[in-house]
Amino acid sequence: MITTAQPMIRFQNVFKRYANGREALINLTLDVASGEMVFLTGHSGAGKSTLLKLLALIERPTRGSLLVNGENLAGITRAKIPAYRRQLGIVFQDHKLLADRSIFDNVALPLVVANTSPKEIAKRVRAALDQVGLLQYEQARPIELSTGEQQRVGLARAVVTKPALLIADEPTGNLDPDLSLEVMDIFRRFQGVGVTVLIASHNVALIERFKVRRIHLEGGRLLDSSTETEPVLFDPARFLDAEPLTPTESL
Ligand SMILES: Nc1ncnc2c1ncn2[C@@H]1O[C@H](COP(=O)(O)OP(=O)(O)OP(=O)(O)O)[C@@H](O)[C@H]1O
Ligand SMILES: [Mg+2]
Repeated sequence: MITTAQPMIRFQNVFKRYANGREALINLTLDVASGEMVFLTGHSGAGKSTLLKLLALIERPTRGSLLVNGENLAGITRAKIPAYRRQLGIVFQDHKLLADRSIFDNVALPLVVANTSPKEIAKRVRAALDQVGLLQYEQARPIELSTGEQQRVGLARAVVTKPALLIADEPTGNLDPDLSLEVMDIFRRFQGVGVTVLIASHNVALIERFKVRRIHLEGGRLLDSSTETEPVLFDPARFLDAEPLTPTESL
């Protein structure tokens, strides 16, 4: 059993009931270790997006506590939410790129918002684009890229701030199997450099190709995952075939 001093994510008896009375999460208790990669599965309506929204502070728990990197999210006031979110990489199914801006500008956005210097922005944006294999497209517009490439731009934008935690909601939802695999491989490489990764997906065929812990939700409850509760931490042996990350610019 691998133990870490402090989990990256800790849900303790968390409930989420929406204003309409819908119980989206029921008594959720869950730890995700620092550096772990986890898939969140479950049918439509099971509560996957709700769980991620609590982590992103898009929603708040009705009861229970939620800690990220040791910090209790209940203590983060509305004014501090943007700063909190900047420590988090968030990837959506719909990559939400700005059509009238270049790929470079799209990826730079979180850094511009954070008042990063132009020199640092240029360095970090290029490193992030390099990591998703899209450096040659920095001056292109989103419309000139394929769906899979656009999704990778979304991924570059999510990691450009070097977050310790990356969360993704159905990041391969619009992609064909080959492109889905490619995007998942990129996530795995981020885990390989120490990022904690939590991905919600109902693409079971894809998930089964990865030796990664699965957390299964059903009707807002966590199903027993006792057979797979060992955290799957970075194992260099599994990355021998992977392309190396740019050494100086890895996260
Ligand atoms: N803003 C909201 N207001 C009210 N009810 C909501 C809201 N968002 C989600 N729900 C309800 O909460 C439950 C969980 O929804 P959630 O979006 O978390 O499911 P999901 O597992 O992500 O589903 P999917 O696979 O379809 O994306 C559902 O019953 C849903 O109808
Ligand atoms: Mg969802």
